[in-house]
Parts: sequence; C-alpha cells; structure tokens
Amino acid sequence: MRAIVVFALFAGTLVSVPAFAQSAEPDVKAGKAVFEKWCKPCHGDGRFRAGTDALRTKYKNEKPAVLEERTDLTAPLVKATVRGGAGLMAPFRKTEITDAELETLAAYLSRTTPR
Ligand code: HEC
Repeated sequence: MRAIVVFALFAGTLVSVPAFAQSAEPDVKAGKAVFEKWCKPCHGDGRFRAGTDALRTKYKNEKPAVLEERTDLTAPLVKATVRGGAGLMAPFRKTEITDAELETLAAYLSRTTPR
C-alpha cells in the first residue's frame, strides 16, 4: 500500500514539473513560425537573400551568414534589431510582430547561444 502512495507522488512530480517549466518559457516553435513568415525571405539560406548576403559580406565567413545557424545571438540583440532595424533592414512595427511574438522569435534565434 505504501509503495503505491509513494509511486503516485513520484509520478505526479514527473508530470507536473515539465508542464510548469514549459508554460514559463517562451514558445521556441512559435518563434520559428514568426521567423519563417517575416525574416526568412531575407535571412534564409541561398543566394539573393538581402540579409544573408549582407551578413556574409560583413563577417567574411567568420560567422554563419544564415541567422538560424548562429550560436551567438542573444534575445536582447534580436529584439533591439527587430524594433530598431539595421542598415537595409527596416524596423518591424508592433502591428506586424507583436511583443509576445517577438519574445518567441528572440527565444528561437537565441536557442543555441550559451547562457
Ligand atoms: C528586407 C530584408 C530583411 C528582412 C525582412 C529582415 N532582415 Fe534582418 N537584416 C537584413 C540586412 C540587410 C541586415 C544587415 C544589416 C547590416 O549590418 O548592414 C540584417 C541584419 C540583421 C541582424 C544583425 C545580425 C548581425 O550580426 O549584425 C539581425 C539580428 C537580424 N537582421 C534579424 C532579423 C529578424 C529577426 C528578422 C525578422 C523579424 C529580420 N532580420 C528581417 C535584412 C533583413
């Protein structure tokens, strides 16, 4: 009987802790969708992508030209660039990308950056 109670408590912990952690973190998968809609036309892989071409020139292959392959982008940098623009890249308005969407986008692009 006691074994069953202990197991039930343990199983409850396994289920509830990850569920809580998930709701506290920005949704990286949603951020990928925001990226694909708004950023990929310029920052995707391949030629004739204004962002990828500009970053290839800027970093001369010291860093990946494709944003999704970078491992040094921080969430604050992504947010500041999206709201402030950079060179040819125009700022995005909150009617285009909401603050909530920007949180997920920043989480997506900084997912491989060591904290
Ligand atoms: C119209 C094309 C275009 C779009 C759309 C665009 N960008 Fe850019 N982006 C650029 C260009 C060009 C640069 C390089 C600016 C420079 O430094 O001259 C750039 C630079 C950046 C940088 C700076 C990277 C670095 O290391 O200097 C970040 C971060 C960035 N973009 C994020 C985004 C995100 C996130 C989105 C989508 C919300 C986005 N961009 C959409 C063209 C674009």
